[in-house]
Amino acid sequence: MDSKISQREQWTSKLGFILAAAGSAVGLGNLWGFAYRASQGGGAAFVLLYVLIVLIVCLPVFVAEMALGRNAMASTLLAPVKLAGKNWYPLGILFFIAPLGIASYYSVIMGWTADTLFHSLFFGLPKNLTEAETFFGSISSGSSVLLGHLLSLVLTAIIVSSGIKKGIEKVTRYFMPILFIIIVILAIWATSLSGAWEGYKTFLLKFDFNELRNPQTIRNAFTQAFFSLSLGIGIMVTYASYLNKKSNLPKLSVGVASLDTLVGLMAGFITFPIVLTFGLSDAISESTVGALFISIPTGLGSYGAAGRIVAVAFFALAYIAAITSSVSLLEVPVSSLMDKFGFKREKSVWLITLFLFLAGIPSALNLNILGTVDSIFGGVLLIFGGFLVTFFMGWVVPGKFNEELNDSKVGIKTTRYLKFMTRWIAPPIIGFGLFISVFDLMKSWVS
Ligand code: PFF
Repeated sequence: MDSKISQREQWTSKLGFILAAAGSAVGLGNLWGFAYRASQGGGAAFVLLYVLIVLIVCLPVFVAEMALGRNAMASTLLAPVKLAGKNWYPLGILFFIAPLGIASYYSVIMGWTADTLFHSLFFGLPKNLTEAETFFGSISSGSSVLLGHLLSLVLTAIIVSSGIKKGIEKVTRYFMPILFIIIVILAIWATSLSGAWEGYKTFLLKFDFNELRNPQTIRNAFTQAFFSLSLGIGIMVTYASYLNKKSNLPKLSVGVASLDTLVGLMAGFITFPIVLTFGLSDAISESTVGALFISIPTGLGSYGAAGRIVAVAFFALAYIAAITSSVSLLEVPVSSLMDKFGFKREKSVWLITLFLFLAGIPSALNLNILGTVDSIFGGVLLIFGGFLVTFFMGWVVPGKFNEELNDSKVGIKTTRYLKFMTRWIAPPIIGFGLFISVFDLMKSWVS
């Protein structure tokens, strides 16, 4: 087993890692998740909480996950055991199961995205809200949803089966720059909309202090921060296990987190002007998970050919962002099977892909199931994982954490700051966020 682990591939360069990690982070969460969570209320308070959580707790979680992966040089299933013994196997198992849970429905949403893209390209956009709702109903049910789910999984599997350098790194190297270009162009285009200012105001300035105490806003902000940064489920553990010892972990995490938050905010600068220009606020808050797929095509539909081009660009952007995230979700369980059982990469990839296809069928066929699986796997489990990983690196193996910070050659002040945050600040704040999130989730089930 150890010989397998020591033959690990490595990223060709730091940039390769940054693009792959940013590729994992920037995804449907920034576009679909951000629009749907921000639309559930909270306004600027939601955005403020989200940014604070990223700065205060997610950065230490990020460094802790990377330190765990690089120190163990093993996949997530085995990394905690390698550092702290058998008692920590459940953490490895959590890191194995959580990405499977997310990947099972992520590909369903990728399928909706592809369907909307093809429709915009070949058939045009809906003429009004009712048509858009009917269209969303058709792409989120029946055989087309299963086909979209399957094709997205197969595409992801093909990339992951090519390996770290030739698959994931290569794809993210090409796709990430394209993604940034499209998003900047769309954000500039959105400034020309008549409701642009209204959109920015709703998104960033409509501040209601009471929202800071609203459990749903708190849960949404924690979920958005962890989901968007791909934290708490071992992605960064796995990606950092392919890093060399010289890389500066805190610098890399700041780079990736900044890119991701920037894209999240820019996505808000695109979706909110569209929603407010075309009076879609009610539609978006009623349809939650379908928010993006109903509001954007409806809004752009009244904009003629130009609207159609923008819709194609937007959903192409979303699909590209989604692929670079779904490869990371698949890589985690794949590398775990390879390390644990010595399976070849291809065998692990296709076994897990088959499992994901079957596991995703209930979410594909029922929006409520998808919403529930998302709340559990894409919400509370990530926050729980974040709590455990800071506790683990801060209290269980602080020496290993120190080693990684020393290897990163960070200054004494940064080292002290990170150690303090990882031990004393992040665990209680995440624990609080977890408590509120579980409470709010249960409340939503009862009501
Ligand atoms: N961060 C991705 C997004 O925002 O869409 C999704 C994601 C990928 C979540 C990997 C969690 C994860 F581990």
